[in-house]
Amino acid sequence: EKQGYAHFMLKEIYEQPRAVAAAIEPHVNPETFSVALKNVGFGGQSVQKLEELDAKADWAKTQEVFKSIERVFIIACGTSNYAGNVGKYLIEQLAKVPVECDIASEFRYRNPVIPAKSLVITISQSGETADTLAAIRMAKEMGATTLSICNVKNSTIDREAHGHLYMNSGPEIGVASTKAFTSTMAVLNTLAIAIARTRGVMSEAEEKELVKSLLAVPSQMEGVLSYDKYFEEAASSLKLFRGFLYMGRGTSFPIAMEGALKLKELAYMHAEGYAAGEMKHGPLALIDERMAIVMVAPTDHLYEKTISNLEEARARGGKVISIGTGDNEKLREISEHYLAIPKAHWTVNAILAVIPLQLMSYHLASNLGYDVDQPRNLAKSVTVE
Ligand code: F6R
Repeated sequence: EKQGYAHFMLKEIYEQPRAVAAAIEPHVNPETFSVALKNVGFGGQSVQKLEELDAKADWAKTQEVFKSIERVFIIACGTSNYAGNVGKYLIEQLAKVPVECDIASEFRYRNPVIPAKSLVITISQSGETADTLAAIRMAKEMGATTLSICNVKNSTIDREAHGHLYMNSGPEIGVASTKAFTSTMAVLNTLAIAIARTRGVMSEAEEKELVKSLLAVPSQMEGVLSYDKYFEEAASSLKLFRGFLYMGRGTSFPIAMEGALKLKELAYMHAEGYAAGEMKHGPLALIDERMAIVMVAPTDHLYEKTISNLEEARARGGKVISIGTGDNEKLREISEHYLAIPKAHWTVNAILAVIPLQLMSYHLASNLGYDVDQPRNLAKSVTVE
């Protein structure tokens, strides 16, 4: 069932454009470029009955919830948590609601203050992660409204939540999450737009612009995937490094975290993800010619600041691999390897920028002879703490 791909992971990386399209399809009207979340089920229906709901009445119920909330919490583990961090930037900036994103195992044990008018969003591909499940149960007990984003329908977390959204990625077999991650970021885009429009803080024109850029993402992802030979080439130079520092700002920060996690779990090499603005506060001391700097630097409102961090890292001897927008002469000049993504709105850059990082880790690990579908010591679903 690998359909000619060497590994499930590679197949799943290539399925991402389709997965992202499937994730947004129920919620987006491609004629009016507007968002209405489809059959979320806040009215208390069972997960099996969601498809039978009256879409109009259900959307009205969802909007009622979005109007009433004062805070948002996003809770998840691992890669799902990094998607949640992208969601934090999206929901806060677009919908102007305060958002906190936390790791489920921390959240559940720190006696969090969850005001009653909170929306607690849990993200879980499997829907069975023990800590995330405990977090959603706790949030319900404290009177919050809960919304799950799962890939596996009718999973435990999905059944437990008040409202339901789906990644629609199809089964993810590779232990390292790829398509569930990009699909989740697409769902979070629609969610952020939906909350923003419902609360009257986004114009119709802005909604149109954002929906158009979201609808363009699957074909832009195809474009990025077609550059795989450059990612493979970059990967072939990585074996020699002692360590890796992945950095970015804004939504590129969680992408740096995710890139570093993919390298650790697949190639068993030490990598750290860092907010680029934190570099001066410690990690700069690590940098020498045996350290690779992987900088996620798409052209957005933080680009200039990211570049100045990059130049500083390079001045200390770090070898640079950069991800940027289009044919960026500057990045090409200062990087050993420059990997391009197409020009896009800041809200979707993260979905595009993670692809080169996934493929670099994949190629490095498979060239080293590691089992990329089943990395050592890891399980697809973490049902115990
Ligand atoms: C990393 C990875 C894990 C999962 C984490 C949460 O590639 O797959 O970090 O993201 O175990 O799993 P779910 O999303 O099933 O709750």
